[in-house]
Amino acid sequence: MVTPSASPFRLLSCLVVLLLLPLLSFASDPDPLQDFCVADMSAPPLLNGFPCKPASEVTSGDFFFDGFMKEGNTANTFGVNLTAGNVLSFPGLNTLGISMNRVDFARGGINPPHSHPRATETGVVMKGKLLVGFVTTGNVFHSKVLTAGQMFVIPRGLVHFQKNVGEGKALAFTAFNSHMPGAVVLPLTLFASTPAIPNDVLTQAFQVEEDVVKSIKSKFAS
Ligand code: GLV
Ligand code: MN
Repeated sequence: MVTPSASPFRLLSCLVVLLLLPLLSFASDPDPLQDFCVADMSAPPLLNGFPCKPASEVTSGDFFFDGFMKEGNTANTFGVNLTAGNVLSFPGLNTLGISMNRVDFARGGINPPHSHPRATETGVVMKGKLLVGFVTTGNVFHSKVLTAGQMFVIPRGLVHFQKNVGEGKALAFTAFNSHMPGAVVLPLTLFASTPAIPNDVLTQAFQVEEDVVKSIKSKFAS
């Protein structure tokens, strides 16, 4: 039985939990409390981003980034190159809840299945022909072949990929509602982690013989 003195406290606790629930379910980068907070990259990161550079040291240059001007080098296993314009490469984005990538694809290149734990992604194809797809938590696959000028969206946290299905190179720009969306790249996460996931976990998870797991791991061994 609830004692008379415990009852108001309980009511208050329930009220606080109810009020906080929507905040938890809409969690994303927090809204900034000032115009800007150019990251002081020499200071250790705080819980949610970097400390701000003193305003007296901020210059116009802090709000511009030229890292997307050059084509990325796609001579790698996947034939893709992601140039990140996030808080690490563009400190002016700090706390603003936004970032972008330039994604270059060689002919036949793939940005392999991956997810962004902290952001929804949107993107636009600038050149070439990309098969863009993602899988919902209900295991439904949505995909479409896009050409220049067409746009896509990947809901936060869902596994997605882009594959160049055109005759030449392809280029896309992507954008995120986080200054640091993070990426879980499935082939690397599962087969190239440090330390490695034990082979028997992977053979059981994928229902294959150990040779298959060893062969996949060998492709990503550095
Ligand atoms: C594309 O999926 C990207 O993460 O930039
Ligand atoms: Mn992505």
